[in-house]
Amino acid sequence: MTDKPASRPEENASWKRLSRLAKTVTQTHNRERVNESDRFDKYSIRVGPLLVDFSKQRIDRSIVDDLVALAQESRVPELVAAQMAGEVVNTTENRPALHTALRGPAGKELASINQAIELERNRMLQYAEAVRSGERKGFTGRRITHLVHIGVGGSHLGCELVCNVLNRSALEIRFLANIDGTATNKALKGLNPETTLFVIVSKTFTTLETLANAHAARCWFLERTCDDGAIASHFVAVSNNAAEMTKFGISPANQFTLWDWVGGRFSLWSSVGLTIAITIGANEFRKFLSAAEAMDQHFREAPLAENVPVILALLTIWNSNFLGSQSHAIFGYDTRLKNFVEFVQQLEMESNGKSAHVDGSSCNVHTAPIIWGGEETQGQHAFHQLLHQGTRAFSADFIATANPEHNHTDHHRWLLANCLSQSQIMLYGNAGQASNSTNVHEVIHGDHPTTTILIDELNSEALGSLIVLYEHKVACLGMIWQINSFDQWGVEAGKHLAQEIYRDLGLPDSENTDGLTEGLIRTIRERTNNLFDDGTI
Ligand code: F6P
Repeated sequence: MTDKPASRPEENASWKRLSRLAKTVTQTHNRERVNESDRFDKYSIRVGPLLVDFSKQRIDRSIVDDLVALAQESRVPELVAAQMAGEVVNTTENRPALHTALRGPAGKELASINQAIELERNRMLQYAEAVRSGERKGFTGRRITHLVHIGVGGSHLGCELVCNVLNRSALEIRFLANIDGTATNKALKGLNPETTLFVIVSKTFTTLETLANAHAARCWFLERTCDDGAIASHFVAVSNNAAEMTKFGISPANQFTLWDWVGGRFSLWSSVGLTIAITIGANEFRKFLSAAEAMDQHFREAPLAENVPVILALLTIWNSNFLGSQSHAIFGYDTRLKNFVEFVQQLEMESNGKSAHVDGSSCNVHTAPIIWGGEETQGQHAFHQLLHQGTRAFSADFIATANPEHNHTDHHRWLLANCLSQSQIMLYGNAGQASNSTNVHEVIHGDHPTTTILIDELNSEALGSLIVLYEHKVACLGMIWQINSFDQWGVEAGKHLAQEIYRDLGLPDSENTDGLTEGLIRTIRERTNNLFDDGTI
């Protein structure tokens, strides 16, 4: 380790060496690098239920050594320890980022936090079990059959992901996130107020989308029940803002806490996961937490060269800072993972889409790449053409499950065959195969770096491991880029502007300071016949 850490990532000696190595790497097609007989074993690591194979990346031993040296020079092990010990790593909001404490005790010095977490978790799991068992009933004594989870961003994406993957609930679970009346109507359609539970999740309890939908749900409910007292049996909330939950009408017994030191996108392990607990039950929820804790332990303790979140972070740096990758795709070869891309988009892009270092200076190197992807094999029939023959440089993660949950064995065999063949062709291309490449329109160049994550079986443990793997990859990237991965000031400006425009949409003589926006406001007013002139603000 260096005595004095570099004040910019690019000032590390290893960064400079990597810059030199990158020039030679780009001159050689990766197919020439990968023919060592033990390459798969050398560059794949098993961690819990996951096999992470990065043998198709554009790396060799000296590159990996320098990448690991970069993590070392960036003081990753010390920064991980500091984060998990509750130091104020979110400096702009003056908070720790202690989501790891939600999975396993955060050390003796944080005993009071550990106790509070344990108490709240037990309360939340008891509530979940009471709904599942039918002990907690609706206001007319009928069993709860439907649940509407209202929340957005970190208060939504993780919960929907986990519920979709692990759903084995007798309840029908719906998610309502958007401020779009069509979504609101769809979420409420056909529900019976006597048998519906609304779970409102918002760390701040001030988020426009969530509050608008929560109020719409309450109006819908009261119009049908005409009974304020019935709210207690049908509305439950999770927030850091007890006063606003109370103002909304949530009874104290139905309020669950989210601490300010848990960022929204890292919060599904807390009471934010109430919908998850209702869906999968307390036992599975505990298994999910244990697997997450095991990945925390791996991140904290495994040597850097064998530390999977660190390796994934270093590969991102290698591909996007040195080899010119313009975006990173995630391909889920398991339909249950269809929400995984959206989840990782928020996780990575909200955490690391920054251009200022922690010390306030500007970043000179790229930070988070654009994350995108989809559910496969559909993508193969849509956007893979560009990946194979387009002009853009990208990197990708392929995620597949070895054992299916269904008995369509042949489907699964084809699904896996497609997964492996896509990563194969992205590496090798088809030179020498496609009609001897005489027809330029058939040539696929390949040479794209990909990682394959193979899950033994997609259960609570595997999903817990997978999510935390990406969480820690993101944190590690922030440590190396020297940015604060735990704030999100960029989304605030848009929220304030939306308030002004909301007002202007209802004013006959709006004078929006921006003439271009003013033109659109005028047109909307004309085309809607001044629909918004009711003075609501
Ligand atoms: O606007 C972005 C954001 O602040 C996310 O960071 C957060 O997960 C989401 O909104 C929802 O916020 P809340 O949980 O406070 O409603």
